[in-house]
Amino acid sequence: MMLAPITMEYRIREYGLQQGALEIEYIEEYFGEFPSRKTATEVVRRLDERDHQILMAEAPLPDDPATVVPVAYKVSHEIRMHETEPKLADLVARLQPTVEFQDRKVLYNWLGGTRRDWRGRGFFRALTEEQEAWAHDNGFSEIVVKTKNCFYDMRSTLDQFEFNVIKFEPDADDSRESKVYLSKRIGLEVLDRHRSRRQVVRSA
Ligand SMILES: CC(C)(COP(=O)(O)OP(=O)(O)OC[C@H]1O[C@@H](n2cnc3c(N)ncnc32)[C@H](O)[C@@H]1OP(=O)(O)O)[C@@H](O)C(=O)NCCC(=O)NCCS
Repeated sequence: MMLAPITMEYRIREYGLQQGALEIEYIEEYFGEFPSRKTATEVVRRLDERDHQILMAEAPLPDDPATVVPVAYKVSHEIRMHETEPKLADLVARLQPTVEFQDRKVLYNWLGGTRRDWRGRGFFRALTEEQEAWAHDNGFSEIVVKTKNCFYDMRSTLDQFEFNVIKFEPDADDSRESKVYLSKRIGLEVLDRHRSRRQVVRSA
């Protein structure tokens, strides 16, 4: 695993919904390992009218440093006790009673990843630290995420970020497909442990 240079400053862009949805559709084209990519329409439908954050880390192309491209992204949104959209209602039901929704804000890590050639250089840590700072500023108490046994890179990464496993749903036929739910409580002590240097630009 390549170590991020100590002096590196990550360039992060925080997008508004419409432009962000288009950017997500674009960057997901680069993730051949995922069968179900999100369209901009799906993204808008999911994020509209709920607290959300769309972050992208940008970096220059190695063979054309004047050109800056999105290399990692992270999309998260609020989930509430009474969801009407079936997928979200199902998620909340699975998280309860482990996660308390009454009178507190819970943030869900919906989408994210780093393009293959840019992995292991701290881009996802920088996005995650920016997300945690935003979550704290916006009154969230906890961040939850769902993954699968077979997403080994993501599981290792969530370990490094000190996410705790809160639920496991075994798949009887294929344990690689078993679901793992993790969570992290957000407080000032979390922000104190952040170590990435970041420059954040906000786009409409
Ligand atoms: C998981 C993923 C986002 C990590 O992105 P990244 O930009 O390479 O991560 P970073 O370089 O910021 O690393 C963050 C931390 O995780 C660790 N890490 C990252 N990938 C790792 C791996 N494969 N094995 C062990 N540790 C790993 C790093 O060492 C780093 O720890 P540190 O900051 O304490 O030193 C990237 O591998 C990816 O996009 N994978 C495919 C996406 C995926 O599996 N999605 C699953 C859907 S839930």
